[in-house]
Amino acid sequence: MTLVIRNARVVTSAPGVQRGGAMARLVDLPGHDVVVRGGVIAAVRPTGTAAVGEDSASGAEVIEAAGRVLLAGLVDCHTHANWAGDRYDEWERTLRGERYEVILAAGGGIFSTVRAVREASVGTLRDLLGERLREMLALGSTTIEVKSGYGLTGAQELKMLRAAHEAAAGFPGTVVHTALLGHAIDPDRPGSVRETIEETLPAVHAEFPGVAIDAFVERGAWSVEDARRLFETARSLGHPVRLHADQFTSMGGVGLALGVGAVSIDHLEATTAEDLARLGASSVIGVGLPACAVHLRSAGGKAADLRGLIDAGGAAAVATNRNPGSAPCASLALAAGLGVRLCGLTPREAITACTVNAAAVLGLSDRGAISPGMRGDLVLLREGDPRSLTHSLGGAPVAMVVCAGRVVLRTGG
Ligand code: NIG
Repeated sequence: MTLVIRNARVVTSAPGVQRGGAMARLVDLPGHDVVVRGGVIAAVRPTGTAAVGEDSASGAEVIEAAGRVLLAGLVDCHTHANWAGDRYDEWERTLRGERYEVILAAGGGIFSTVRAVREASVGTLRDLLGERLREMLALGSTTIEVKSGYGLTGAQELKMLRAAHEAAAGFPGTVVHTALLGHAIDPDRPGSVRETIEETLPAVHAEFPGVAIDAFVERGAWSVEDARRLFETARSLGHPVRLHADQFTSMGGVGLALGVGAVSIDHLEATTAEDLARLGASSVIGVGLPACAVHLRSAGGKAADLRGLIDAGGAAAVATNRNPGSAPCASLALAAGLGVRLCGLTPREAITACTVNAAAVLGLSDRGAISPGMRGDLVLLREGDPRSLTHSLGGAPVAMVVCAGRVVLRTGG
């Protein structure tokens, strides 16, 4: 099957992770066609240069873009979209100024969602997640990372991963699983750190080999030393590792990420300038999650300094962090727009941050850019200016979504 998107303004980063000044260097090709054959981009050509009858002879579906912007499909590289229950009461407490960490320390927050997830069946989790994935796809995210992390025991973490696996099977985009085994320390289970490393990790390894392993390093969550043991064991089993760090407290997360060779360090709200410089000189990708800064603003929420990271030569990505507690955000375009306003990204850098760099966080080199040989995941914007993606606050800047050459959503035009 062949799809031709005709007469688009093709705007894309180069393939592969982009660092420092390269993040803003986008290829910008007005008046171009993109041809997707067998799910893969076959050609990017000036409009009008196809041989006469070439597209009709191949039975291609031809879509007129009329000069609107065509981007690579958006990649949401950090979500906790697999959850049950709600946190509306706690949200009202944060609106009154109660801090996220304090609610967590009192057994709420992540633990509230853990209780709801433990009561939910695989089928319930699958259906809730499936609905959220479709909502995010309609907003332009063709690849979505989904973490576990609300189970905390081996059996419950595996339940979450299996539910996400089932949801992924019915999803036209791509789901990338992450085992967030170190999300919180269960107060009812002394020895839970040892159990996570010695029992849960091997069980996850047996059923989900190669899945990324994640931990939340923070006061009241995982310590640097315990997370290091988890990560070193995970690396020895062949798993990539990622970490949530510096969300509220700078306590050595950057040094840990560099030491264990993490793929990414996510959050960075409290990262010092010195640590940003070290991160910028490393190969670890910094992931900003600015929806937290807005959602937790009344409780002191801050945003990551991605400007500082990029100026230090680093690679930045941005994600929704969709979850019921700190970031109930489905739209990656909105998160990227907040990245511009709160984290210091330019609108061009934001495109790189939510496409090719986000794909690199997930270890995916076949997407995130529009170039022959890349997967045919594309989004057509409603407008002809690439800045419209991040200018819109909460609207739907995306008019069409394509997954592996198949149109999965088209809202007009
Ligand atoms: O990345 N801070 C840790 N984990 C999530 C929040 C999860 C939750 O509050 O349910 C985050 O912000």
